[in-house]
Amino acid sequence: MNEQIAPIGIFDSGYGGLTILREIRKLMPQYDYLYLGDNARSPYGSRSFEIVYKFTLQAVERLFEMGCPLVILACNTASAKALRTIQQQDLPQMSDPSRRVLGIIRPTVEAVDTITASKHVGILATEGTVSSHSYQMEIAKLFPHIIVSEEACPMWVPLVENGEADSPGADYYVRKHLDALLCKDKAIDTIVLACTHYPLLRQKIKRLITPSITVVSQGEYVASSLQDYLGRQTEMDARLSKSGSIRYLTTEQADKFAEKASVFLEEKVQAEQATID
Ligand code: DGL
Repeated sequence: MNEQIAPIGIFDSGYGGLTILREIRKLMPQYDYLYLGDNARSPYGSRSFEIVYKFTLQAVERLFEMGCPLVILACNTASAKALRTIQQQDLPQMSDPSRRVLGIIRPTVEAVDTITASKHVGILATEGTVSSHSYQMEIAKLFPHIIVSEEACPMWVPLVENGEADSPGADYYVRKHLDALLCKDKAIDTIVLACTHYPLLRQKIKRLITPSITVVSQGEYVASSLQDYLGRQTEMDARLSKSGSIRYLTTEQADKFAEKASVFLEEKVQAEQATID
């Protein structure tokens, strides 16, 4: 089959996936990327399984329609609540079952064992990711000796989205959830920021905890796992266009997206509005 080559699709509920995209582009600038943020319907973090699954499937279908043979769910909540069903149930029934959808939980989990010395790990994430226990289950599968504690931080996404990440006012909510997590297990030496917005709070988090605790942002692990995947999956790699371009689509107003996206990317971007449902 002689297919057209096309960009890698990167999907997030909104802006958070930009922290993943940034690391992927740093490592693999040669590829073309099509970023889709479902800003009009975000946040996903407090939504039910059914809704997150439905919205995520719609976004994946849209990116497939636009030609992307590979879609990364650059959102923990979508990875936790929709990835498995899309991979196992939906993808095999689609017109081209050779297309692929990958998440960001597995590559993050794979890195955890090399980082923790105490083998006690804390997960900070949205309510949806925590209630799915996806991190706990993935870690138990790969590294059953690791003790996992989880804490949902429902206020953190709005703080980041409203430009309050560095404000003194954010300290209260950041400290609240850090304390709650560290109370669950005093031996935690590694905290995983398992929500794509949280890297913007990393400096504040580090200031509020002891320096002996490692704070892990997942972007670089996702990027190196993708590089490794494409190195092995040469047929998929051949289907990906490589002219170093990036296009941003949002279900919200394009100029609104462009303005906020620059906070996550530290560069100015242009965006286009898209519908996905
Ligand atoms: N990007 C989502 C995640 O990583 C969080 C944002 C949201 O709640 O929509 O879990």
